[in-house]
Amino acid sequence: MSVDVESKFPEGRRLVSVLFADILGFSTLADQLDPEIVSGLMRDLWSRLNKIVEEHGGFVDKQLGDSIMVIWGVPESLEDDAERAVSASLELLTGLNKFKENTEYSEAKTLQLRMGIHTGLALAGNVGIHGEYTVLGNTVRIAQRMEENAEQGSLIVSEATYQSIRGAFQVKRLTPVQLVGTKKLVNIFQILEELPQPTKLRYRSKGGLKTILVGREEEMARLEDLFQHTRQQNKTQLVLVTGDVGVGKSRLLFEFAGQLETENPLLTVMSSRALKQTSQVPFYLWKELWSNRFDLNEDDPVESARKKTIDGVLTLWGQALGEVTAVEAAHFLGDQIGVTWDKSRYLEPFNTDPKLRIERSFLLQAELFNRASQRGPVVLILDDLQWADSGSLAMINYLWKSADREIPLLILSCARTEFIKENLEIFQDVEQIELKPLPVSSEIVRDAYPALKEAPDSLLSALAERAEGNPYFLEEMVKNVLRSEGFSLEEKDELPVLPGSVEELLQSRLDSLSMEGRATAFFAAIAGRVFWKGAVLAAFRGSPGVTKALDVSSHNIVGKVQVALDELMEMELAFLRVGSAFSGEREYIFKHSLLQEQAYQRLPENLQAECHLVIAEWLAERVGLERSVCVANHFEAAGVYDQAQAYYTKAAEHARAKGYDKEADDLQYHARTLPENNFGQGEK
Ligand SMILES: Nc1ncnc2c1ncn2[C@@H]1O[C@H](COP(=O)(O)OP(=O)(O)O)[C@@H](O)[C@H]1O
Ligand SMILES: [Mg+2]
Repeated sequence: MSVDVESKFPEGRRLVSVLFADILGFSTLADQLDPEIVSGLMRDLWSRLNKIVEEHGGFVDKQLGDSIMVIWGVPESLEDDAERAVSASLELLTGLNKFKENTEYSEAKTLQLRMGIHTGLALAGNVGIHGEYTVLGNTVRIAQRMEENAEQGSLIVSEATYQSIRGAFQVKRLTPVQLVGTKKLVNIFQILEELPQPTKLRYRSKGGLKTILVGREEEMARLEDLFQHTRQQNKTQLVLVTGDVGVGKSRLLFEFAGQLETENPLLTVMSSRALKQTSQVPFYLWKELWSNRFDLNEDDPVESARKKTIDGVLTLWGQALGEVTAVEAAHFLGDQIGVTWDKSRYLEPFNTDPKLRIERSFLLQAELFNRASQRGPVVLILDDLQWADSGSLAMINYLWKSADREIPLLILSCARTEFIKENLEIFQDVEQIELKPLPVSSEIVRDAYPALKEAPDSLLSALAERAEGNPYFLEEMVKNVLRSEGFSLEEKDELPVLPGSVEELLQSRLDSLSMEGRATAFFAAIAGRVFWKGAVLAAFRGSPGVTKALDVSSHNIVGKVQVALDELMEMELAFLRVGSAFSGEREYIFKHSLLQEQAYQRLPENLQAECHLVIAEWLAERVGLERSVCVANHFEAAGVYDQAQAYYTKAAEHARAKGYDKEADDLQYHARTLPENNFGQGEK
């Protein structure tokens, strides 16, 4: 994206991440060495460090002798500013170490870096002492305070920064500190290192409404107990959080994982989420989990997929030799998730018996978790099990029931309430945490949203009562109220009109988008809860009927779609995901499945069909056999039954070959019972 000159340095309040970095030991150096040598050394060092900062998109605001202030978020703010600031800082440490290794002056080897970052709003503009471009305000002071609290050689970030980078770095919570001039204690976090494979569950957005987890103290304590118990007993523990749509299942697990991460530097979290749109993809839940971990893309060339899988397995497997080798594990694991091997000597003996092959694969994957958990606690987060396929559930069952193997693995899962009744054979004796609606009270609302701290009780009670304890409904309502025109916290007597239902509310949130934003949301919803920028673009280009109906011109469509996607993120209706199924394709997720469902309904049926066709073709070019069922689903929804049948048949054969008979039977039956003629061709 190019930025034109006028908007290059925008003015006004902006969300920025500010880094302060200080080089310690500089003055000692000045005492020991010739001034010219010292200034030469420092010039060399700073030019290296500045280069690192600039490579990470930072704007070097000030450099004063031995310290530097860098801003992310100007000239343009991106959703990952805080993350880039943190990555850059870690690289500064590496950069300094390299410098020390290479320098001929042993005196310079004692130099150390100390850094701090804070993320917040700041006034940006030509507001520096000499009219130069800079940012001012509390955010800058807090960043500096973070730096002052850092030990030599370390990086400290504020809570706000931590919230934006959660899941991407290994983090340790330190004792809170006081800010100058206030009595308030603030949380600080030390960043240890970048996680090789960030947890994909987390959401990222620019700024956004700050919300605090409320009313779940008991559940958090119970999860903590179960975590300790798992470690002490050396046994796999399966926890299932159940509850209604929007009651806070995902959030609870997200918060708990975050807490564990800061308390256990050696913790490994691996996560995955089942999706309605992939509910028939065999073994999808684990395919997603391993793909996240190994950084696999659907469109990787086969050689590269093999290498990533083997390397990934090896890192978890460790050095110890056993009767089974890590390479064998990689072959069996890869085989289940769509990585193919040429005449594998491990797999071949199992060619005639897919059931045995699955069993061996489960065993080796369990061993992989076993080995990983010898280095530190391992927690798996498996979200939305109501959409998991039978193979994925079978592996959960396997890990849990082979508890005699003494693997201290904590599996945290969640699903809608009905799920447990439909899957009694597996989940009967599971540790169940049933999430009830939040208490209906104004206090809860006040605690959850700091932005409403000063709001009148009458408003808070009205919100609480309307939401009936559903935090999703509540949160979206709060956003609507805060964004509504002319809203002020002072007006005590006139309450804003509240929506009748969460569906109505989501529709009005969609209506508040720009024309392109709305069209983007509608197209994205056709793809599913998870969607890709390329798919949305294809829909814009390939559905003239829709673009016409929505009155969106096709001029500069690439730029418009990106702006629209940014708008969805700004409104917190969708988030960018870490990683993507397809290389080079940005992957997004609707904030909630309910929202995707509401957006889906907005296109009239004939236009839905037109979009489904475009998406079917877009996917067909990119997916492997595992996901051919998704292509089939879209062709079917488009009324193109001959293509749908071909893809269902392919998917059924694949599922059969892999030993997933239930899916294979369903798919085959489905393929056979499709209408004979494509939509609109019946009368010919
Ligand atoms: N206890 C809570 N306190 C504050 N906000 C919450 C709480 N539980 C959920 N939320 C918010 O409500 C929304 C819906 O929660 P989510 O976990 O996605 O629901 P579910 O997974 O049960 O459908 C999210 O935006 C979440 O951040
Ligand atoms: Mg959820």
